[in-house]
Amino acid sequence: MEQKTDLDEFEIPFAQRTYLRNTNSSLLKKIIIFSPFLFLLFSLTVLRFVENMEIASLNIFFPKTEKNQDGRILGHLPYKEISKEKLVLIEPNIEVHIDMKDSLLKMREEARKDGIYLVFLSGYRSINLQNEIFYSLKSIRNQVAFERARVSAPPGYSEHSTGFAIDIGDATQRETDFETGFENTNAFKWLLKNAAKFHFKLSFNKNNKYIDYEPWHWRYEGSIEALKVFESSNRKS
Ligand code: DAL
Ligand code: ZN
Repeated sequence: MEQKTDLDEFEIPFAQRTYLRNTNSSLLKKIIIFSPFLFLLFSLTVLRFVENMEIASLNIFFPKTEKNQDGRILGHLPYKEISKEKLVLIEPNIEVHIDMKDSLLKMREEARKDGIYLVFLSGYRSINLQNEIFYSLKSIRNQVAFERARVSAPPGYSEHSTGFAIDIGDATQRETDFETGFENTNAFKWLLKNAAKFHFKLSFNKNNKYIDYEPWHWRYEGSIEALKVFESSNRKS
């Protein structure tokens, strides 16, 4: 009788085997139940991968169809150089687009009548000159391109190459030429109030996210050609 009880105890391993078999079958059941979801997950991952591959190959063949559509470099839009025939000399070293000559000179005259003396600092600049300005000043000031581009456009990306940009100073406060301090001069205050009457607009205000504030830099938008040139810039800002 006693022996039988011992044998009974040895039945336990049999129960353990049954348990193991149940584990396998329940795992199998789970796999069967979840397999459609696993398949779906796998399909979605493959689809995503193929999509990314397609976008990457499109970027190789059509680099401009994706980001950076406006062709900016370091925040500056590209501008073509104006043809020489459209340039006029308005005073020594200052050439501008013929479309803006009359308006610019009229603005200076009207300012003078109000006791304001505008001085023209820089008008048209060739891409070659812009090249010298950008690269020589960059190295003199020990600045990398990104830093320099906040205050000067890379060659081919300056509004000055269009002939429609003019840098203006106050003849009574020359120490503010090309300085943000120009915003405190009477000339700047007068321009803010009156420049639009002559179709001039401040190009780089305090809100520009790429380029530093340039209170001295104005551009002309008083002809169809000028509007076309600055269309992209006006659309973005
Ligand atoms: N100075 C401005 C950034 C230009 O050259 O367009
Ligand atoms: Zn300028």
